[in-house]
Formats: sequence, C-alpha cells, structure tokens
Amino acid sequence: MESSVAAEKKADPQFLGETAIKPSALQIGRVTVDPPLILAPMAGVTDGLYRRIMAEHGAGMVTTEMVSTQGLIRDQVATWRLCAHDDRVKVPLAVQIFGGDSRVMAEAARRLEDKGVQLIDINAGCPVRKVVKQGAGAALLKAPQGLARMVESVREAVSVPVTVKVRLGWDENSINVVDTARMLESAGMDAITVHGRTAAQFYGGQAHWEWIRRVKEAVSVPVVGNGDITSPGLAEAMLHRTGCDAVMIGRATQGNPWLLSAIAARWSRGRTQERPPDWMDYENLVTDHVSLFLEQKPQAAGHVRKIMLWYSRHCPGASVLRNELTRCTTVGAMLQVFGAWVEEIRHRGLSLMSSKVPEQEAKKERINEKQTLDFRGLKPCG
Ligand SMILES: Cc1cc2nc3c(=O)[nH]c(=O)nc-3n(C[C@H](O)[C@H](O)[C@H](O)COP(=O)(O)O)c2cc1C
Repeated sequence: MESSVAAEKKADPQFLGETAIKPSALQIGRVTVDPPLILAPMAGVTDGLYRRIMAEHGAGMVTTEMVSTQGLIRDQVATWRLCAHDDRVKVPLAVQIFGGDSRVMAEAARRLEDKGVQLIDINAGCPVRKVVKQGAGAALLKAPQGLARMVESVREAVSVPVTVKVRLGWDENSINVVDTARMLESAGMDAITVHGRTAAQFYGGQAHWEWIRRVKEAVSVPVVGNGDITSPGLAEAMLHRTGCDAVMIGRATQGNPWLLSAIAARWSRGRTQERPPDWMDYENLVTDHVSLFLEQKPQAAGHVRKIMLWYSRHCPGASVLRNELTRCTTVGAMLQVFGAWVEEIRHRGLSLMSSKVPEQEAKKERINEKQTLDFRGLKPCG
C-alpha cells in the first residue's frame, strides 16, 4: 500500500519535497521560536494549562489569550492571572494585549515587561463587538496610522520585541493589510502575524493566504502565517505558498496537541514521529487535562465538557458522546461517560489517532487548499 508520505508527494510534489520540510528557527529580536510553530491566542481557550500542553507537544512559542490593558493597569487580579508564566513551559510566551488607547497600551506593556514578559503582541484583529466598540482589535485596522502610532508608543515603552496580529482589513472592500504592514514596520514592529480573513468574515469562509504572501513580499520583518492550518501538509503548504517565516495554529489544536507534535517531528527529524500516539496516550492526556484543570477551577463543569468535546472532535461516535455529555450535570458523570466511550472505541479496534493527525487526508486537503487560495472575491484598497 502506498504510504501517506508518498501519497502527499504525488498530490503535490512541488511544495512537499524533502528539501523544504525543515524551516529554520524564527528569531524575533532576542526571542528564538524553534520550531517556527506558534500556538494562536484564543480567548477562553489558551489558558496556562492549555499553553503548557501545547508547548510540551512541540509548539515553538505559545500565546496568551488577548488581555485587556485597562484590566492590567487597574491591577485586576483576574487579568494578570491570564498572563502568568509557568516555569514548566520551556518555550517563549507571548502576551497578547488589546485596547484602544496608546498610552494605556504602552503603560500595560511596560508593566508586563517589568514582570518578565518576553514578547508583547498587539491585537489588531479581534472582530468581537465588545472589543471593536472600544476602538480596539479589528477597529484599529480602519485607521492604520493610529495603529502605527500605538505600535510606536508600545515600542518606546519596552525593550522586548513588539509584534502585531492583524486581519486582512475591515471587510472585503477595505483590504489594506499590505500598506498597514509597511506602516507598522516603519513604526518599529518586530514581526507581524497575518490571519488571512477580514474582520467581517469572522471565522467564516476560508483564509486567503495570497495576502500573507503579499505582506511577506512587502516587509522585511518576520511574517507569521495564520488561518485554516489543520495538518502537517497544510502547515508546510502555508510556508511554501506564502514564503512566511512561521506558522500559527489555533482551532485545530483544540483537543489535538498531536498535530503540533507531528509537525514539530517532521521539521526536526524528517517526516515521521518516533512513536505515533495511541489510544492510551489519548486517554491519559484527556484525563490529565481535565484533572489539572479541575485543580484550578473545581466548579467549572461547563469548561470540562468543552475540553472533552474538543478531544472527541472528528473521532468515531463523537456526536453520540456529545449528546451524552450534554445530559451530564456533574464532572464525575462526564468522566464516566467519556471513559466508557474511549473503552468502546478501543474494544472495537477503532483508531482515535487517525483523525487527530490526519496525514491520510492529504488529498482532501489539497482540494481545500485550492479553495483557500482563491481570493478573487477580495478587492485591495488604497
Ligand atoms: C475561540 C477563539 C478565540 C480567539 N481569541 C483570539 C484572541 O484572543 N486574540 C487573537 O488575536 N485571535 C483570537 N482568535 C483568532 C485565532 O488566534 C486565529 O487567528 C484564528 O482562529 C485563525 O486561525 P486557525 O484557523 O488556526 O484557528 C480566536 C479564535 C477562536 C476560535
């Protein structure tokens, strides 16, 4: 039978050749990101425990969820907790800040640096109403000069690297990411992450990687490509198609840190992992994730359900499990239901891991990727 690697090469030998599977470490100022594989900021998801799990599975840098600069300068304990560093995490931690006031942003960044934060990322992409209303997140894309002044202020306030995470523009009629990136580079930004969607797209449609390539051609600072990476093949396709210096992955890591380990393994030693994870690794990790989470937040049953749903996504019988979990009112009952589901899969000899590291899906991905690169509907402006 043809191996998945051979199938991938056949699918697209141009950009999945052996020579191109080992991108070099990314250097952002004094921060080294090795491998150049970054965990995306995700509000309500990338807490300290999540970051630790992803770092242990191969992320070269992890990112906090966006943190309110108003909350930081008002010394709100809950806000500071979001950016707490864990010594067990051996890769750099980027703290992402959001706000609409340059002075507040600069002051918050200065306080973060005082606490030992290694890298500050500015959120200029969040499309959520509550954030945009404050003139923060994606609202900043509407006035790139203002965003550039904000970057200047933060840059002056700290000596650690300052990066910015942007979307393509506000909507498809106002795509300005290339000009914005140039302005931010002049303002002193050390690297830029481009999520290939407009704010109006939220998470709908597909990410338009072509704009990431255009940004890469326009600036000299490192460019991180983000949007719709769900497999090792697509991580490599992002590098090849856009020329970006690193990839950032968000949603596909939910319940699937093995995606990161598969990519990291390919980039460090070749195309295969030393030992592919099995159902026992799977069960151990879910149990650890849940129990460590409960040590911090014993009452948060809703989040425990969310964690289990992440891990069961794309697995056999996931919809049945989802229904059963919804009926559970206690964490104990959820753990029981989850354990029984894993046991059932194991007995039937089904694989949990094939859906978690979907190398076999290469052909399907190539098709999706073509759609990803179709950016004809989007018009540049300015
Ligand atoms: C639940 C959730 C929360 C997010 N929170 C943030 C955030 O706090 N800051 C940010 O810059 N992007 C945030 N994002 C966007 C992601 O960082 C990323 O840009 C987006 O999901 C596209 O990447 P992906 O296709 O790999 O998920 C969030 C996305 C999700 C799904």
